[in-house]
Amino acid sequence: MIDLPAFRNKKVLVTGHTGFKGAWLSIWLDLLGAELAGIALDPLHEEDIFNLSGIGARMGDHRCDIRNLKQVLDIFAKEKPEVVFHLAAQPLVLEAYKNPLETFEVNTLGTANILEAIRLTPSVKAAVMVTTDKCYENQEWVFGYRESDPMGGHDPYSASKGAAEIVISSYRRSFFSAPGQAAIASARSGNVIGGGDWSANRLVPDIIRASRNGQSLEIRNPGSTRPWQHVLEPLSGYLLLASKLLEEKDKYASAWNFGPLPTQVFSVKQVVEAFLQYLGKGDWRDTSSPDQHHEANLLMLEISKAIHRLGWKPVLQFQEMVQLTAAWYADANAQNAPEFCRGQIIQYSQLWRSRNGN
Ligand SMILES: NC(=O)c1ccc[n+]([C@@H]2O[C@H](COP(=O)([O-])OP(=O)(O)OC[C@H]3O[C@@H](n4cnc5c(N)ncnc54)[C@H](O)[C@@H]3O)[C@@H](O)[C@H]2O)c1
Repeated sequence: MIDLPAFRNKKVLVTGHTGFKGAWLSIWLDLLGAELAGIALDPLHEEDIFNLSGIGARMGDHRCDIRNLKQVLDIFAKEKPEVVFHLAAQPLVLEAYKNPLETFEVNTLGTANILEAIRLTPSVKAAVMVTTDKCYENQEWVFGYRESDPMGGHDPYSASKGAAEIVISSYRRSFFSAPGQAAIASARSGNVIGGGDWSANRLVPDIIRASRNGQSLEIRNPGSTRPWQHVLEPLSGYLLLASKLLEEKDKYASAWNFGPLPTQVFSVKQVVEAFLQYLGKGDWRDTSSPDQHHEANLLMLEISKAIHRLGWKPVLQFQEMVQLTAAWYADANAQNAPEFCRGQIIQYSQLWRSRNGN
């Protein structure tokens, strides 16, 4: 996977490059030899992956609100990307309950703005538009959602991403179906963990904050299961998908799930206990209440399409995912972070190759 040659010397634009997943993706693309540009707002935390890794200095680092179409178009015209990864979003369920309109503007209309920029920028050959597993109409099924299942969303975040998927599908069918036009895919993945995320109300940052401050951790949904993944798992899927889109548009320009294997779906409580055990200190208490906002309890992705048609499969065991993540928070710092991040990507790539037979 680390040898993926498709991006060498290619201009690649990542939206959301100052965020958790976007920064990891940018570091990985830099290792693959891409020429990078990014569009995002300022990073939120001085210790986050974007700041510590120093990746901003290795790319065209544009700070721009994706709701501003004119500015987005100007950046696309200047950078002339061949490949686009769209990750910029308001990604938090509870924040969306507080600011629903802004969440719809950024996640749904912002996605439409990026698609419009792709439509008006002839250099773009392929784009991976990142939404979420929460884009599906959640039926609390015990089995996973397939790419063909209906879009939906109870809470505003999920609905904004379900709506983004409908916009992506409309643009693909209306403006990108002819030969020679850009190949557009969407990517749906589950709850991602990994080093360098400091977002509010996310499980791993909450665990690390509580542990560092010597506080008891408050858990609002201990029994909920989520398709937990290490951040490098879906990113490997996005990279593989983009490389295939460049080769053969008709086969790959569609929606793809990048979740964990069914044996790797764990409850919030199991994740908390695994981290506390690894960290060797801390405790937690159940603060669930009947008055809290609705959040899905049971959510799984069916990944047969990616396994059989793309040759992608998640490779990390649960304990390896916890270990890689906890090691980052324990050992990465302002001095060693660039090397530390690259080292984790290389380690993951080697595992990917040996376990995927590639
Ligand atoms: N982290 C997860 O568990 C998870 C799971 C499924 C899907 N996703 C999706 O992956 C993507 C990245 O998520 P993340 O966890 O890295 O989030 P993050 O909050 O760490 O990063 C979000 C990025 O989007 C940018 N952004 C936000 N609003 C913007 C605006 N108006 N204009 C321009 N840029 C803006 C931010 O500056 C940042 O760079 C999102 O689309 C998210 O919905 C995340």
